[in-house]
Amino acid sequence: MNTLMKNVCLSAAIMGIGAAAVSPASAQSGHPSMNDNKILNIAHRGGSGYAPEHTLPSYQLGDEMGGDYIELDLQMTKDGELIAMHDETLDRTTNGTGLVKDYTLDQIKELDAGSWFNEMYPEKAKSEYNGLQVQTLEEVIQHFGKNKHYYIETKSPEVYPGMEEKLLKILKDYHLTRQNGPSSKVIIQSFSEASLQKVHEMNEDIPLVQLIDYKNKATITDEELDHYEEYAVGLGMSFKKIDEEYVDKVREHDLLIHPYTVLEKEDMKRLIEWGVTGMFTNYPDRLEEVLKEMKKK
Ligand code: G3P
Ligand code: CA
Repeated sequence: MNTLMKNVCLSAAIMGIGAAAVSPASAQSGHPSMNDNKILNIAHRGGSGYAPEHTLPSYQLGDEMGGDYIELDLQMTKDGELIAMHDETLDRTTNGTGLVKDYTLDQIKELDAGSWFNEMYPEKAKSEYNGLQVQTLEEVIQHFGKNKHYYIETKSPEVYPGMEEKLLKILKDYHLTRQNGPSSKVIIQSFSEASLQKVHEMNEDIPLVQLIDYKNKATITDEELDHYEEYAVGLGMSFKKIDEEYVDKVREHDLLIHPYTVLEKEDMKRLIEWGVTGMFTNYPDRLEEVLKEMKKK
């Protein structure tokens, strides 16, 4: 796409209007949940720059600060419950130790998932963060309701057989995956293609985002993009590994591009100018500000 066309699409995307009418790349996928006219603000582990990640206060802040999606990482307990946690181990974000898969939900519910944040970030500490509980996926959905949007990652699916089936059952029970209108409230993401393919086989209507872990500067071929298009609506990768050429290439293939994890406003602005369709951030308020500032120009 030439620079003039890109600027027209960028203005439309920031304003949330009519980009699909002017951008061939944005007439993609047919997924009604994918508002391709808007740059998605994805609250990474919630508003996790301000509160302990994957706790209710973090998700609440992410939502209040303008997050379009609450981002959730999933692990599975010994008794098969899906919980919101980034690491396979309890050590970093609770006062427990060891692998999540070795503990029942009742045992994990005994843990403190907030005090670590107060100790690590005294300048952001709040007394109400002490003693926060780990949340199950169902609890998060019950708390925030089926009108919110959830961007859910299957973490370490090879460690948790049956994880995808359990996830889809919960989404079905809470009517989060219907095809019509704005009712598809969920995007499922994973670094594991096998996990996404499994979900796709069970329900081909759920929008999927393939995460890619680039060790060096990101490059991608037309063949790889053709392959991703077969089952995914978009790609996610570290914003530090991509450049404008990479973004152009992904967009030319009708795929969304959601880089992670963008913390600084200058990086947000540059990525938006390159044409990304959203991004993961621990600071959804900063992204909201950037979008507003760019709209004013
Ligand atoms: O899901 C996008 C991004 O969150 C992937 O990295 O390690 O934060 O889950 P991570
Ligand atoms: Ca994640």
